Amino acid sequence: MPEKIRFGFLGLGKIAMSDHIPALKALADRVEITAAYDPVPGKVQSQSAIAGIAPKVCCSEEDLLSQDIDAVIIATPNVFHYPQTIAALKAGKHVLVEKPMSFSTAQADEMVNLALEKGLVLQVNQSRRYNALLHVIKKEIDNGLIGDILHFRSQRTMTRSPEMSWSLGAYWFIDPAYEGSLVGDIAVHMSDAMDWFCGRTASLSAVTRKRNRKVEDEVFVLFNYESGAIGTMELSWNFPTGFRSDEIYGTKGTLRLCCGGLAFEFIPAGSTSPVKVFTAPSAGTVANSQECFLDAIATGSKTAWEFGRNAIALVEAIRLAGIENQVKIPAYRKK
Ligand SMILES: NC(=O)c1ccc[n+]([C@@H]2O[C@H](COP(=O)([O-])OP(=O)(O)OC[C@H]3O[C@@H](n4cnc5c(N)ncnc54)[C@H](O)[C@@H]3O)[C@@H](O)[C@H]2O)c1
Repeated sequence: MPEKIRFGFLGLGKIAMSDHIPALKALADRVEITAAYDPVPGKVQSQSAIAGIAPKVCCSEEDLLSQDIDAVIIATPNVFHYPQTIAALKAGKHVLVEKPMSFSTAQADEMVNLALEKGLVLQVNQSRRYNALLHVIKKEIDNGLIGDILHFRSQRTMTRSPEMSWSLGAYWFIDPAYEGSLVGDIAVHMSDAMDWFCGRTASLSAVTRKRNRKVEDEVFVLFNYESGAIGTMELSWNFPTGFRSDEIYGTKGTLRLCCGGLAFEFIPAGSTSPVKVFTAPSAGTVANSQECFLDAIATGSKTAWEFGRNAIALVEAIRLAGIENQVKIPAYRKK
C-alpha cells in the first residue's frame, strides 16, 4: 500500500469540481491528485487552475489508466460509468464511480463481479449516504423517536433540468444517448435514501413522463416496503415553482425537512406543532464518500459497492414500471 493513494480523474466537470476535488484536497495527508483526463480541449488545465491542483494532463482514457495511479474517480456522463469502471478495474485500479453506477443491474453485477475477482474496491458516490443530517435523523429513528415508520414521502420538484441549473450547458443530462433522465439523476438518490430508512422495497409502481424532453422528466413512484411501510416519491423538472420535502411518518410522530432543507423538525403524534429541530452536526462528524473510499481501500472492503448496486435495482424497477405500467420487484443483489 503506497503512503498516499494516487488518484486519476475521468471527467473534470461540475461534480469533480464541487465535491471530489475539495474533499480530496482536505485529505491531502492521505491522497495525491496525480492525473486527469477530460475530452474537452484545455478543460483539465483550466479546471485545475481554478481548483489549485496540478495533475498530469492525459490525452485519453487509456493514457489515464496507464499512469502510476492507485484509484480512479469516474465523474463523467452516466453512459460512461459502466465501460470506464470495467476498463479501470481491468487496469488494476480501485474505482469510485458517480451515481448511477450503471444503467442496468446486469451491468452493475458485471462491475461488482470484476472488482471482487480483482480484489479491488468499487464504491458509488450515493451522496445522501454521506449526508450528516440524514445520519442524525437515521440515528433518531433507530432509537425509536417516531416509532415504526408508516410512511415516507419525498418530493423534489424543480423548475428546470440540470443543464439549465446545476451544470450549465451539460445537455447530456437530458439526452437518452448519454443515459440522462430524472430517474438516473434524482430518483437514484431518493429511492436509495428511502430504502436506507424504510428497509427493502418489496414492490413498486410508477408513473413516468417525458413531458418536455426526450428522457423521463417527471417521476412519481409508490413504494411498498417489506416492513409494511409505504413510500411516495414525487420528482419533476417541470413545476412552476421548486419544492423539496422529506416527511417521515411513524407510529409516535413525524420528522419533516424544514429550514430550507438544513434541518428536520419533530412533531409528536397528536400534536400540530414541532417540539424539536435537528440540524447537521458540525462538519467532519460523518465521513464523506472519499474518506470512506480510502478506508475501504485500507481495509480491503469487499462490500463498498452495496448500496450503489441496490440503487440500480430500484431505478431499473422504476424505469420499467413506468414504461410497462406494471408493478415491479427490484432485483437486489443476493451478495
Ligand atoms: N453524487 C452526486 O450528488 C452527484 C451530483 C451531480 C452529478 N453527479 C453525477 O456525476 C456525473 C457527472 O456529472 P456532472 O454534473 O459533473 O456533469 P458535467 O457535465 O458537469 O461534467 C462531466 C464531465 O465529464 C467530461 N467527459 C465527457 N465524456 C468523457 C469521457 N469519455 N471521459 C472523460 N471525461 C468525459 C465532460 O467533458 C465534463 O467535463 C454524472 O454521472 C452525474 O449523475 C452526482
